[in-house]
Amino acid sequence: MKKKIICANWKMNTLKSEAIALVSAIEENMPATQNEVVVCPPFVYLEAVKNTIKKLKLGAQDCYFEEKGAFTGEVSPIQLKEYCNYVILGHSERRKYQNEGDEIIAKKVKASLLAGLTPIFCVGEDLEKREEGLSDEIITEQLDHVLFNVSPEELKKIVIAYEPIWALSTTENRKDCDKETADEASKLIRKIINEKISPEVSREVKILYGGNVKPENAKDYLGSKEYDGVLVGGASLKAEDFLDIIKQGEGV
Ligand code: PGA
Repeated sequence: MKKKIICANWKMNTLKSEAIALVSAIEENMPATQNEVVVCPPFVYLEAVKNTIKKLKLGAQDCYFEEKGAFTGEVSPIQLKEYCNYVILGHSERRKYQNEGDEIIAKKVKASLLAGLTPIFCVGEDLEKREEGLSDEIITEQLDHVLFNVSPEELKKIVIAYEPIWALSTTENRKDCDKETADEASKLIRKIINEKISPEVSREVKILYGGNVKPENAKDYLGSKEYDGVLVGGASLKAEDFLDIIKQGEGV
């Protein structure tokens, strides 16, 4: 069985003392696990969190696609690699607030792989597109940019996160994405990779579900054979809730 990944996306939350307190509480109470538990704090706390953790793994929430140079305010994959092994890319909030498009995101994925980071590459449609029946098209388009910008070997190292925007905990008038709907999206992603790249890559690539994952529903996604883990936003800011989710990842 593949190791599951349970990844916390703290987004732009916590002050330094809160970040340390949160990660310490998770670290101290974490059950022994075969799964990979990753926390992604804001950039400025990567070092502090890195110095606090022993069992947890560390990730960043974004990076730039160049290695170095005159890019004020950006952080490069090789800089991140000094601190962490994972990087979330293409999150819907970056697509929305920073206007990141598929091409830029594909470049970031490629640059991260070259730096030795594992990209957690997010795809997912909003409610409008879903209601127009365009979910599959959107997911396909988002995937295609990355699929054809990396080699099959590189693709195996990418973690894909399906995050329906309409189900995120912070989306206004959000709706639940039930297990069946989530499973369909994962099947679609594997089908696309199967047809466009290869059956082997399609089997090996890891796919996470993200969107309002919390203790009450974590088993649905962690227990699904279509998924290799979860990406958790809001619930990962409460140690107790995140620990509960980690525990539910055992023996499923
Ligand atoms: P949520 O966020 O768990 O708060 O819905 C998930 C995400 O945006 O990655």
